[in-house]
Amino acid sequence: MTTESRRLPMPEGPSAEAFRAFFETVELPAALCDTQLHLQLYNNAFARFCFDHGLTVEQMMEGLAEARVPEDGAACVVEVALPQGGVVVMELARRGESVSVVGRRESELMRGQLVVVEQALLEQARTEGVLLDLGRSVAEAGSEEELVASVARGVKELFPGRTFCIRIIDARTGGLTSLYAEGRLKEGSREPLVLKRTAVEKMHLTAESIPVGKVVVAALVPLLFEGSTGGVSAPLVASGQLYGVVNLEYPSSLREEPDPLQDERVLVQLANQVAVAVKNAKLIDELTFVRKYLEELLEKANALILVANRDKKVVVFNQAISRLTGFSKEEVLGQDVFWLVPEDEHLRLASVLAAAMRGEAVPNFELRLRTRSGEARASFATSSALTSQGEVEGVMAIGQDVTVVAQLEQRVIHAEKLASMGQLAASVAHEINNPMTAVVAYSESLLQRAMMMGSAGAADSEKLRKILESGQRILRFTRDLTSYARPAKDKVERVQLNALLDKAVGYCEHVVTQSKVKVERDYGELPPLPAVPANLEQVFVNLITNACHAMKPGGQVWLRTRREGREAVVCVKDTGSGIEPTNLSRIFEPFFTTKTEGNGTGLGLSIVQRIVEKHGGKLSVDSALGQGTTFTVRLPLAD
Ligand SMILES: Nc1ncnc2c1ncn2[C@@H]1O[C@H](COP(=O)(O)OP(=O)(O)OP(=O)(O)O)[C@@H](O)[C@H]1O
Ligand SMILES: [Mg+2]
Repeated sequence: MTTESRRLPMPEGPSAEAFRAFFETVELPAALCDTQLHLQLYNNAFARFCFDHGLTVEQMMEGLAEARVPEDGAACVVEVALPQGGVVVMELARRGESVSVVGRRESELMRGQLVVVEQALLEQARTEGVLLDLGRSVAEAGSEEELVASVARGVKELFPGRTFCIRIIDARTGGLTSLYAEGRLKEGSREPLVLKRTAVEKMHLTAESIPVGKVVVAALVPLLFEGSTGGVSAPLVASGQLYGVVNLEYPSSLREEPDPLQDERVLVQLANQVAVAVKNAKLIDELTFVRKYLEELLEKANALILVANRDKKVVVFNQAISRLTGFSKEEVLGQDVFWLVPEDEHLRLASVLAAAMRGEAVPNFELRLRTRSGEARASFATSSALTSQGEVEGVMAIGQDVTVVAQLEQRVIHAEKLASMGQLAASVAHEINNPMTAVVAYSESLLQRAMMMGSAGAADSEKLRKILESGQRILRFTRDLTSYARPAKDKVERVQLNALLDKAVGYCEHVVTQSKVKVERDYGELPPLPAVPANLEQVFVNLITNACHAMKPGGQVWLRTRREGREAVVCVKDTGSGIEPTNLSRIFEPFFTTKTEGNGTGLGLSIVQRIVEKHGGKLSVDSALGQGTTFTVRLPLAD
């Protein structure tokens, strides 16, 4: 738009009165002065203007007295100081000998307002910047501790000079999990958390999501810090769950006048952002915990656990299987699973893996595993490891070491063989018994006849005596063998222990002679005791046999019996090799033997222990390597 100034024809101009009248009606606060700034004329608006700024017209002119008067035709702006502080802006313009003075009412006001708005905008931008940074750093926090530290930094930046306290709780139990305080907390102010009722309502927190006893809702939040003059607070709420509270307080040392309403608005914004981050951090903490717990469970489980992926590479190899094979986790992880089994087992393993990859479980299959020192046997159950989409990701095998079981099975078979040999021996002995009875009877009668013949029969009678003695020995042996091999009837009798020991020594005659050892007896007075004789015989036969086996020719076995209170005590002591300390705790285990194949089943002492315990007695051992061993049997006497 173009403007065109129109010059009105005014040859003489208005009269002074007309001008004055016009001047009065002008709304602009205006005054006319001479070039010395002596007031000549001013309008009502000027008087009002001065009054609005706390000045009289005269005072305004005094304020202008020092001002520089502009050149003819020019204009300038002058600031006049106000008594209550601040300035008022006056525009001066000169035409010849007249100077006009105009007050800048509107523009000044607007400038003030602009400054306020500008300041508010700047403050808003700063707040938003801090909140943005805070959002970023809390999202990146790896733990609750890091998160609280970030929040504390943000609060400090947003609210300089204030004291504050950040408390995070467990959403389920309400228990305090983190606390950060900037300032001196009052005694007992950590717990319970106090929430403002209006804030709870605004956040739509239900009664169920407020842990009883740990969190209190009240009309007013008590001040937490020593020497606070006031404060605001904001609960941390995400998805309807309470995760904590942030309290902001004004210490008496605070320089500026606080604006609680504004502070609360910003604090709520901050709390909303932080609450979501706390919720996420807690979820991550929980997930990490569950994951670690499961890993630990797999790792420490008392079962062999092995997982292979689709490429048949080992991805889990727990401690139990590492112990069994002697290979460390580091050695095995990433290896082909076939590496763990001997070559002749590859085909079987391949078929089990193929089944697992098809999603079929194999409940029970035995496999030999390579170990650092040889091989071990394990029994596994496999199942497929699935992805969350249900696709087969690999195969998981859980098993147990059956090496010992397999060895025990072998030994049981061996023991069973021996038992059937024993039965065979008993039946053979029985068969020998009858003809031998005849041999003994006839040789006896022939001997009597030869003896009656006097010197003529002397040579025969000597031979016949040898036949008779040998025959009697065979008979005694077969009788003993039959009674020993026959399963004993559990009939309790009153037993003379010393006589029973003699009988046991008799059974061992063969091993005693073979080992070239001597048996010494040192019997004390003993009353009869209740026992199953055949079983008790077996106890001492086993102990004496073991003693003979442990000794070199010339060794000695002592059998000592004594009465000690209500017990009969029998010691079987030898001068043998003694027992290795590491073996001492194992000798009573079934099948534990240090004897070479075919010389011992390792059942002897376990049978002894069982029988002694069945009689209400106790068995103990004392051994010194290279010096000898003493087994002590304590049996209760009859009441
Ligand atoms: N008197 C002993 N002196 C030294 N070692 C002994 C003695 N008695 C037992 N032992 C040790 O204890 C082991 C177990 O004994 P146990 O009588 O149970 O089995 P075994 O004698 O080896 O076989 P079995 O008795 O079944 O024929 C023996 O192999 C031996 O090492
Ligand atoms: Mg034995």
